Amino acid sequence: MAETMKGLHRSHRCTELSNKNIGETVTVMGWVQKSRNKGGIIFVDLRDRSGILQIIFEENDCGTENFQKAEKLRSEYVIAVTGRVEARSGAVNPNLLTGDIEVRAMALRILSEAETPPFPIEEGSKTKEELRLKYRYLDLRRPDLQRNLILRSKVATITRQFLADEGFLEIETPVLTKSTPEGARDYLVPSRVHPGNFYALPQSPQLFKQLLMCAGYDRYFQIVKCFRDEDLRADRQPEFTQIDMELSFVDVDDVIDVNERLLHKIFKECLDIEIPLPIQRMTYKEAMERFGSDKPDIRFGMELKNVSDIVANCGFGVFANAVANGGSVRGINVEGQAGMPRKKIDALVDFVKDYGAKGLAYLAIDEDGSYKSSFAKFMTEEELAALIKAMGGKAGDLLLFAADEDEIVFASLGGLRVEIAKNLGLLNKDEYKFLWITEFPLLEYSKEEGRYVAKHHPFTMPMDEDLPLLDTDPGKVRAKAYDITLNGTEIGGGSVRIYQSEVQEKMFEVLGFSKEAAYERFGFLLNAFKYGVPPHAGLAYGLDRLVMLMAKEDSIRDVIAFPKVKDASCLMTEAPNIVDDKQLKELGIAPTVEVSNIWSS
Ligand code: AMO
Ligand code: AMP
Repeated sequence: MAETMKGLHRSHRCTELSNKNIGETVTVMGWVQKSRNKGGIIFVDLRDRSGILQIIFEENDCGTENFQKAEKLRSEYVIAVTGRVEARSGAVNPNLLTGDIEVRAMALRILSEAETPPFPIEEGSKTKEELRLKYRYLDLRRPDLQRNLILRSKVATITRQFLADEGFLEIETPVLTKSTPEGARDYLVPSRVHPGNFYALPQSPQLFKQLLMCAGYDRYFQIVKCFRDEDLRADRQPEFTQIDMELSFVDVDDVIDVNERLLHKIFKECLDIEIPLPIQRMTYKEAMERFGSDKPDIRFGMELKNVSDIVANCGFGVFANAVANGGSVRGINVEGQAGMPRKKIDALVDFVKDYGAKGLAYLAIDEDGSYKSSFAKFMTEEELAALIKAMGGKAGDLLLFAADEDEIVFASLGGLRVEIAKNLGLLNKDEYKFLWITEFPLLEYSKEEGRYVAKHHPFTMPMDEDLPLLDTDPGKVRAKAYDITLNGTEIGGGSVRIYQSEVQEKMFEVLGFSKEAAYERFGFLLNAFKYGVPPHAGLAYGLDRLVMLMAKEDSIRDVIAFPKVKDASCLMTEAPNIVDDKQLKELGIAPTVEVSNIWSS
């Protein structure tokens, strides 16, 4: 029978004790990590969220009844121990915060017994993630996850403090709302009161925060759940958390300034890392040209070089044709890797095919100056020499080239340089390289939809000097939009907003909405603009992504208490799930597909 807490008070967490407490009587509580009975002496590793503390039971100190109870202890029992802090009698354990002390038990209560868990509760678990997620409440006991969630909490607390000090108000916005266009699919919630009508869960609080600016709140923030029904990846969840903010009477530099100071404070206080300010800025165009990506990892070089002019008229059809068709030929120099085995190069060729590339041409410059190459035989010595010079190639280097339309060339080589850096171990997780990307294109042509779509969202302000292009050449318009990236991940993004109804209406027109359709969907915003609206701008971070990088994890699942897996399901609660016919009926919903319980197999 579980014992009670009656009359007991925890005096310390496990690792709040140190050799400064020697001689004190303390009461600690937690889980049994491990219990070893050495005949006459029982050693118990007691674990709580702070760490581990060794308890030592001897019949002389704790009495027969307590000693017999201690003999029964097994992993994950929850216990309370009152005892005396002593210097370790045995060997000091330098790996533990409390490695030079132990608590000699005088009293023990077993607060809860435990079955054997389906996997060991330990740092760096080798257990399959699927099993750990099914028993997430056990997984969350592991020190690595506890550290991550404690870090996450700290980031949120510092953010709140900092933003409050800067005059931001924390204001909540609705979750049951109307669709906000951020480019993903909406999660819909049926209305019972109005059958056939649906709320949408917010993809972001974008429209509401702009309305708060219209309402004069000046500086808003919220740490807020957002919902997007999109394909999941290691850095994407269907519900995730934003640090969302909006400011009135500002332009790009004001938003960047307050956010640089926020990031500086978070990194200083959580990781004792001093981010050098100001953070480097790069235009979207330069990022694409140099790194083939709008979120370049600048911890390493291997920059793209455009060699189109050199190969435009060469004998290698793949290159010449790409240029002739309006595309380009670009390469990267993988220094010192001329000896890369053919098999590995083939794997890289397969890798770029995922980006739509038809191939990857290579030229390995051997130490003796001879080449191994998939295309050298089609080119003259002069052409080759010019190509190698343009690439900065020297003996021992491996040059890789992609020839295609720009979009594919950028995506392939942009992805490839990161893949190679990963393979070569060039990505140091202790290094944090921030970069602002600015001057994004306002619009992006969607071949699928046969129209322009907003690159950020439809409320983003064009750059002043590009405004006239909105009528003549919309694809060329740059936006007052910015992303903050860290080590090749987009951790946040934002923009200056359109605040004039005419410009907003024009924007909707370019996006292919009729005036009526625009008013039907966003009338509340367009109308609000008629009643006096301050210029405003904002930004939102993906909190999960930020904490993932700070915790040096590869997946945001490792910094979310109860994450979902690839098919957007939760293995622990078994959501989504079927519901009662009665509930569906009330909502006026009849499935048009055969419904089966995905969890019953
Ligand atoms: P955006 O769509 O760029 O901007 O989102 C802001 C940041 O949120 C994070 N993020 C995600 N994190 C995890 N899983 C997802 N599915 C996911 N989607 C986005 C990214 C991203 O940088 N309303 C605008 C912000 C603004 O303009 O102020 C917005 O939502 O880190
Ligand atoms: P092929 O003529 O298709 O056999 O290709 C000859 C070489 O050029 C092979 O090494 C291909 O991988 C490479 N290659 C083919 N298409 C492209 C392309 N679009 N860009 C770069 N290299 C390519």
